[in-house]
Amino acid sequence: MASMMSKGGALALAIGIGAAVAAGGALAHNDKMPANASPATKTAYARHENFEKLGAAFKGLNDEMKKGDPSKAVVATNAKTIATLAGALPTWFPRGSGVEARAMSEAKPDIWRDAAGFSTAASNFQAQATKLNQLAAAGDIDGVKGQIRNTGMTCKGCHDKYRLEKKD
Ligand code: HEC
Repeated sequence: MASMMSKGGALALAIGIGAAVAAGGALAHNDKMPANASPATKTAYARHENFEKLGAAFKGLNDEMKKGDPSKAVVATNAKTIATLAGALPTWFPRGSGVEARAMSEAKPDIWRDAAGFSTAASNFQAQATKLNQLAAAGDIDGVKGQIRNTGMTCKGCHDKYRLEKKD
C-alpha cells in the first residue's frame, strides 16, 4: 500500500486508506478483546477503534468531496471528527500497549524508542487537521480540497515510520 500511495498522489492515498479501513473492519471480526483484558490490552483495543473512526471520517470526507456539489455540513462533521481525534492521538500510546498488549497491533516499537520523533509526527498531524477543520467549518470547499492532501501526507508520514501493516 505504501508504494501505491507514493505513486498515485491524493486519490490513491484516499483509496489506500479506504482499503485499510475495510481491512480493519474485516480484522475486527476475528480479533475480539479477551474478557479478562489488562488495562494495557484495553488501551490497545480502544486505540484500534479510534483509528477505525479516524479512517472512516477521512474516507467519509474524501467520498463527499468527490461529489459534484459536496455537502458543507458533511465535510465539516468529518473534519471536526478528524481534528478531535488528532488532538487525542498522543494519549493513545502508553508504553506497554504495543504488540505485547494486542497481538494484532500494528504499532512499531519505534513509537516508544523514538518518542520525540513520534510526538513530532503526532503534532504535524494535529496542526494540519486543525487547519482542515477551520477551512471546513468556514465552508471553504476549495481550501478543504488542498488541505485534505496536506493532512493525508501527515497520516502517511507517521504510518511509514511507526506502523507495521499486517497482511492478515
Ligand atoms: C502519529 C502517528 C499517526 C498518525 C498521524 C496517523 N496514524 Fe493511523 N496509525 C498509526 C499507528 C501506530 C497505527 C497502528 C496502531 C495499532 O495497531 O496499534 C495506525 C493505524 C491506523 C489504521 C488501522 C486501524 C486498525 O487498527 O485496523 C487506520 C485506518 C489509520 N491508522 C488511519 C489513519 C488516518 C486516516 C490518519 C490521518 C487522517 C492517520 N491514521 C494518522 C499512527 C498514526
